[in-house]
Amino acid sequence: MSYLEITIESADDLINLINTHDIVYCKSDRYIDNKLIEESFSRDSRYSFLSYYEKKYVSFHSIYEQNELHYDGISSDNKRVIPDYLFFNVEAAHSADGGEFLLLHTTDFLDSLPNKIVNRLENLTICYYQFKSFFNPKPHKDQFSFAVKAVDNYCGNRVLRMHIPLTVYKNDVLCDGQFVHCLVDDIKISAPGYSGKDLLEFYEELNSYIFQSKALYKFKLKKNDILIVDNRSVFHGRLATTIQDKRLMHRFQLVKRPPI
Ligand SMILES: [Fe+2]
Repeated sequence: MSYLEITIESADDLINLINTHDIVYCKSDRYIDNKLIEESFSRDSRYSFLSYYEKKYVSFHSIYEQNELHYDGISSDNKRVIPDYLFFNVEAAHSADGGEFLLLHTTDFLDSLPNKIVNRLENLTICYYQFKSFFNPKPHKDQFSFAVKAVDNYCGNRVLRMHIPLTVYKNDVLCDGQFVHCLVDDIKISAPGYSGKDLLEFYEELNSYIFQSKALYKFKLKKNDILIVDNRSVFHGRLATTIQDKRLMHRFQLVKRPPI
């Protein structure tokens, strides 16, 4: 099942909701503290959090530029450290216009696309360059980082495995010879058989399908909202805001515990 919207009362509700739908939009009357989320899941042997040094979550304090559609863990060469689930916990919302959070259910999206586009995606291998990662936080200019096939299989379903820049922001996404250059994160992308211009045009075509797709969910997130996202089949991203603004959101990454 793809999507559920529900009101929750405690952190324990989250345990029962995970794995029921690929996207669960939880609303609450009060802020559910990160510590309560950690405590609830520490009692559940099915999952464990990926830690960031001493913390089990990462906090984002401001909002402004677009965040392209992606899944977490693309740069990992170890599938076990690709998060299975993401939690986005909104402690304080922004007030600037724009900034809608985006979720794209990639299996549903692929199912809705014309065959000619699916065929192109299935034959596409995307090469990423100068990609900042945990293991290489300061890559040099045009340094090759990794290559990923754009379509993979997850539990018998087709899923997308790529970053999709939001080409509506024309100043953020440029052609540069063989590359598409995404300026917000300063990464470059190429694909065998494509010039930078061809690849940018393909991303523009994909964007036009995405923004009219029923597989795209758009949220103006409010204080106390929690999103539970299946990171294997759902991409997350964000529209830009009109001005830089404060916003406090925390992101947890969960993995299914390997069987003992
Ligand atoms: Fe992310």
